[in-house]
Amino acid sequence: MCGIVGFAGKERAVPYLLNCLTRLEYRGYDSAGIALSGQRGIEVTKRKGKLSVLTSELMSKKQSQSQCGIGHTRWATHGAPEEKNAHPHLSSNGYFAVVHNGIIENYEALKRELISQGCKFSSDTDTEVIAHLLEKSYCGDFLSAAKYTLSRLEGSYAVAVLCKDYPGKIFCSRWGSPIVIAKTDKGNFISSDVTSLMEYTDEVVKLGGGESALVDSEGIEFFDKDMKSIERSPEKIQWSVEDVGKKGYEHFMLKEIFEQKDTVSGLVGEYVRGGETSFPDIKFSDKELFEFERLIFIGCGSAYHAGLAAKYFTRGITGIPCEAETASEWRYGSVPVNEKCLCVFISQSGETADTLAALRKARDGGARTLGVVNVVSSSVADESESVLYTRAGPEIAVATTKAYTAQLVTLYLFALRLAKLRGRISSAQQERLIGELLRAPDKIGGLLKTLPEKMKALSREYYTSEQMYFIGRNTDCAAAMEGALKLKEISYIPCQAYAAGELKHGTISLIEKGTPVVALMGNSALFAKTLSNVKEVKSRGARVIALCSEENYGKSTDFCDSLIPLPEGGEFMSCLFEGIALQLFAYYTARHLGCDIDKPRNLAKSVTVE
Ligand code: F6R
Repeated sequence: MCGIVGFAGKERAVPYLLNCLTRLEYRGYDSAGIALSGQRGIEVTKRKGKLSVLTSELMSKKQSQSQCGIGHTRWATHGAPEEKNAHPHLSSNGYFAVVHNGIIENYEALKRELISQGCKFSSDTDTEVIAHLLEKSYCGDFLSAAKYTLSRLEGSYAVAVLCKDYPGKIFCSRWGSPIVIAKTDKGNFISSDVTSLMEYTDEVVKLGGGESALVDSEGIEFFDKDMKSIERSPEKIQWSVEDVGKKGYEHFMLKEIFEQKDTVSGLVGEYVRGGETSFPDIKFSDKELFEFERLIFIGCGSAYHAGLAAKYFTRGITGIPCEAETASEWRYGSVPVNEKCLCVFISQSGETADTLAALRKARDGGARTLGVVNVVSSSVADESESVLYTRAGPEIAVATTKAYTAQLVTLYLFALRLAKLRGRISSAQQERLIGELLRAPDKIGGLLKTLPEKMKALSREYYTSEQMYFIGRNTDCAAAMEGALKLKEISYIPCQAYAAGELKHGTISLIEKGTPVVALMGNSALFAKTLSNVKEVKSRGARVIALCSEENYGKSTDFCDSLIPLPEGGEFMSCLFEGIALQLFAYYTARHLGCDIDKPRNLAKSVTVE
């Protein structure tokens, strides 16, 4: 996490740095800071808290005329969220200022070495070693010092550096964490991602792993890992500047929930041709797809929940043994894989450190790898053998909504493809299932007309709850886990999700009079089974909110305190509709509680640390 920016142009740098940082704040908001390069040296301003605190501080000071600077918005990893740990970090002699995104894994050893050489540290961060290494190795040549310093670092980094002797110039480099660079008529920019630059340009260079650049107002020079000059050409940004605005919505999360009709219809338009699933860019042949004997869906958080749903529906319609794993666990286990095993890495950002590490492990173990990714040319996309883009557009709210839905739809279409290739579904069945998917956008459009008021009213009844339970079976269980995550991450209400049949093996002892239980019963094949669990909790005093298909509505009324009818969704679509309903429930609950919906505490959107 953390966002870094840099600007070198012919106008004052501060407004550009602050504007870009505003767009990067979703990556972390524990503290923010900037460093400006000038003839008299480097000037740093940093503050604990959100970017607004830094902005007020800068507005109250004499306006700097510097036309070059770097900036940072932090999600704390090493060192508490305090001002001393805010970036930029200066070297002891003030010659170098550094902003960093990533983790320097060997920083303790480096710090001991630097302290023994007389360096004085003023923060608890891993980043500060970079500033001191630069100072120690500097003999008048910025690039040589940078080359030496980078060679000493282990871990992941995207760094931007100012050097006092090189006013107007920014050095940047990346390994693991992303950096994009843009040449514009305002000046030249570096940033952690394209969304912060879309106001200024529609094309960027994505710096490759180990590559570096020296940026000033006149141009950009690129270097390979040996600091030899290289040529890099810009690529077009796929998204538009309108996509990164709130479009009149109170929060990005609400806007992104409402975009889901278009997300699904866009995906279906992309991956369905002439009534058949079509993945023209996939790098696996039909023969290879036919021959996979095992699928493992791997991701973190909501992406893992999409993988869990995929495990159930893919296994159901293809007959292929499927597993779903959290990347943070899978990467450390000893899991045998081979070339008949397809590992599917699911990630919105494509930069999640655990997912990336799991991908490398799968590749090293001999598995085939497929990325299901939203951000084009991100690390998971680049390092997977093949990639299916989820095409949800930029997602700014920290809690994922449309990107999660897009993962479900993409994975389902992929499952249909495998099922067809393996002869597990007939053309008629395929036509029926694809037909359902083609009708999904209208159903979502309908839901988005009626559900917001219902969920707002429901959340008014429940927002003071001390805890909540979510239950469901199979794909409904995956939706229960996602619904619970959504609610807890933005409203801070403790929530637990269970496979409905598991409650009676322990957790049911926690159910007492008034305990809220959200029962997901959209999957009609399992409706009766989950209803029996609803009866069990109801008879122990639970207040039950049930989500089920319209056709099962009448069968549930006697056992539930609130019922949310959803369109009939079969084995797959139920979790799609349930997901959207629970996103709205979480949103309105957090709104009643006055929470910071788009930037929940302690979180950040892009988790580039382990
Ligand atoms: C929850 C949420 C997270 C992400 C997780 C993985 O709302 O957004 O749980 O799903 O951090 O992120 P990506 O998909 O970028 O790998």
